[in-house]
Amino acid sequence: MKKVRILIIGFGVIGSGVARAISEKREFISDKYGIDFEVVGIGERDGCIVCPEGIDAMEAYKLKQDGTLNKHPCWKDGVSSIDLIKGANADIVIEATPTNINSGEPGLSHMMAAFNTKKHVVTSNKGPLTIAFQKLKKTAEKNGVQFRFEAAVGGAMPVLNLVRETLQANEILSIEGILNGTCNYILTRMSTEGLPYEHVLSEAQELGIAEADPTYDVDGIDTACKLVILANAILGMNVSYKDADVTGITQISPGALKLASDDGYVIKLIGEIKDRNRPRVAPRLVPKDHPLAVGGTLNVISLRTDLAGEITVTGKGAGAIETSSSILSDLISIYKA
Ligand code: HSE
Repeated sequence: MKKVRILIIGFGVIGSGVARAISEKREFISDKYGIDFEVVGIGERDGCIVCPEGIDAMEAYKLKQDGTLNKHPCWKDGVSSIDLIKGANADIVIEATPTNINSGEPGLSHMMAAFNTKKHVVTSNKGPLTIAFQKLKKTAEKNGVQFRFEAAVGGAMPVLNLVRETLQANEILSIEGILNGTCNYILTRMSTEGLPYEHVLSEAQELGIAEADPTYDVDGIDTACKLVILANAILGMNVSYKDADVTGITQISPGALKLASDDGYVIKLIGEIKDRNRPRVAPRLVPKDHPLAVGGTLNVISLRTDLAGEITVTGKGAGAIETSSSILSDLISIYKA
């Protein structure tokens, strides 16, 4: 049995959801792959849990839900996540702090500290990937560790690993799809139930799918970040957020959705990169029977490839447990070989 010591940095919806998933799937994963995932540290804004002999991940999840994580017997007030990452005897860092597309921080420093202390990184955090992809990739390579981020694009929907493995003989020519569950949820509910924008936005926040700052979702920023990650990671481009043309969904009225529907269309926030041109995010009319016309919190992506033609995948684009599926998949991939 291979024991893997994990640090979870950022214990919000995603980080605590991963802890729960690790606890629930620990036996399944050890039986199937011979890998034992043990959480040995949790980093939060105001302190850390450090426990070299292992943390009961489900207990930590429950404490977090009750707002009493700092009552854990191994809680250390004021210890920074950077110090935890540098000092802990761990193999891998799950970086799940909120996305910040201006500086990438604190995630960027967390990831650099992990690489420079020879720890692999698995992340759902789009900020550092959007602004410093090449730097992170090179630092991971220089230190001989892996950097995986399936969860950063499309939640549970497989994209990066699909291209990396199943489509590895293909050149990816263009990408288009719905990459933000919150916008899709809002547009779907406004269209099918006739509900006002503010109401469905707060529903999305209650579901835990919206970003900490929901303007990232509704202004199209989150979709653009995911496109930038795809451009760099699978199209081999070298672009950042400022290279994208971005329009969000805040100007879409219930009336426009109704008109579109009467004509057989839905309005969707579509991200696309055609023939290596600028990433573009904008609302578009999509025929109701088109493969991209998926509803609710679903994401969908169509990849045009040279050998396989068009490949379209869909899946839950947000949500703690769904995103954990991609994070666990990345963790297993690192250690399965
Ligand atoms: N806020 C994002 C979404 C979460 O709604 O898709 C997943 O990246």
